Amino acid sequence: MKASDTKATLSFSNGGDSVELPIYKGTVGPDVIDIRKLYAQTGMFTYDPGFMSTAACQSAITYIDGDKGELLYRGYPIEQLATNCDFLETCHLLLYGELPDQGKKTNFTKLVTNHTMVNEQMQFFLRGFRRDAHPMAIMTGLVGALSAFYHDSTDINNPEHREIAAIRLIAKMPTLVAMAYKYTIGQPYMYPKNDLSYAGNFLHMMFATPCEEYKVNPVLERALDRIFILHADHEQNASTSTVRLCGSSGTNPFAAIAAGVACLWGPAHGGANEAALNMLYDIQKEGGVEKIGEFIKKVKDKNSNVKLMGFGHRVYKNYDPRAKLMQETCNEVLTELGLENDPLFKLAKELEKIALEDEYFVSRKLYPNVDFYSGIVQRAIGIPVPLFTAIFALARTVGWIAQLNEMIGDPEYKIGRPRQLFEGSPKRDVQPIGKR
Ligand code: CMC
Repeated sequence: MKASDTKATLSFSNGGDSVELPIYKGTVGPDVIDIRKLYAQTGMFTYDPGFMSTAACQSAITYIDGDKGELLYRGYPIEQLATNCDFLETCHLLLYGELPDQGKKTNFTKLVTNHTMVNEQMQFFLRGFRRDAHPMAIMTGLVGALSAFYHDSTDINNPEHREIAAIRLIAKMPTLVAMAYKYTIGQPYMYPKNDLSYAGNFLHMMFATPCEEYKVNPVLERALDRIFILHADHEQNASTSTVRLCGSSGTNPFAAIAAGVACLWGPAHGGANEAALNMLYDIQKEGGVEKIGEFIKKVKDKNSNVKLMGFGHRVYKNYDPRAKLMQETCNEVLTELGLENDPLFKLAKELEKIALEDEYFVSRKLYPNVDFYSGIVQRAIGIPVPLFTAIFALARTVGWIAQLNEMIGDPEYKIGRPRQLFEGSPKRDVQPIGKR
């Protein structure tokens, strides 16, 4: 970390000694005030629920400028990666810091494809679930269970274990998501086909059956690959911070990633893609475009608890760059499938237009996020709504691992242990039961 010449001084209105705090500079973005010694110096903690002003780590992976609406993976703009690279190149970039040249790309692709199968026992584990289980419930279990199958890659402090666990997770997530889907619809599992691309193989495992030849549609393959790229990392979001915190105890990589999957499931995070599409369905059922005004009224009513799903972001106070790319992909996929007049897409565009002109959204800087259009693309591809968040988890796995490995390699890393402002009862004595 690069120290700044400037220092921060914290003073107290009761005349207590002021404290000087170091400031560190990143390459871009806000500087940070180092408060690590604050408790030792003052006996006080800082209070920041929701991490509104707290950098919990140093990182060199992903950078977001929320005001500009800019997203960079290792310095590269997301627009350039989404247009010029595929998902496995993006994985290489996130994991190792650089885009691969042709030779490295070939080797990395070979390495990942060598690990696409899962232990055959996995299907018996799956059988324990109800057929109507939510795919994210299944995924939380399956990813955690990987640690029971791959004993040679569970030592988080061993770089070789971390490396092989990373490759296994990236390679096996599509297989597990497709298995979770096939299980819920009662179709046979399709084994991976390693001559297909990462996205093409996923489409094959999802939609092929043993009865017929399945041909991957290149437009859908590219669209899915783009979905994976756009979701691959997003700096210190809730699930990534969960993975870091979980991993900071020294648990194994599979367990830490399973914690990320569980966190991602929530509708304020990855679950928003499912919630956004269900919201569009609901408006459609109620009468479609004509009902947008009524719906927006409900969203603005603080007592309704209704949110415009797929809108708003903790960091972006401008259009989410991923949403723009996703809208482009949406157009391509719908055209390819002859669904240009898809009523849900029209509804989404109209809803976006009205919201972007409304004072409520304008004053709060609420813009569409990646989830606003990703559901429409996935639905058009044929992916059922409850599987959307599992696909997000598949794509985010590389980001989680890159961040986890970065943390383990950071000499400043410690087990995560937030403190609290205690507001409960001070010490008191237990009374005999008759006197309570
Ligand atoms: N609809 C209506 N009002 C909203 C929305 C929304 N989607 N998002 C924020 N607001 C309002 C919120 O009520 C608050 O208003 P006020 O100042 O009057 O109290 C103001 O905007 C600021 O919101 P906040 O809740 O303090 O913002 P936050 O940073 O804590 O929350 C968020 C961010 C993403 C959880 C929130 O915007 C939200 O719930 N959005 C809908 C869910 C969603 O689309 N999530 C996906 C995020 S992108 C993908 C991912 O990272 O997983």
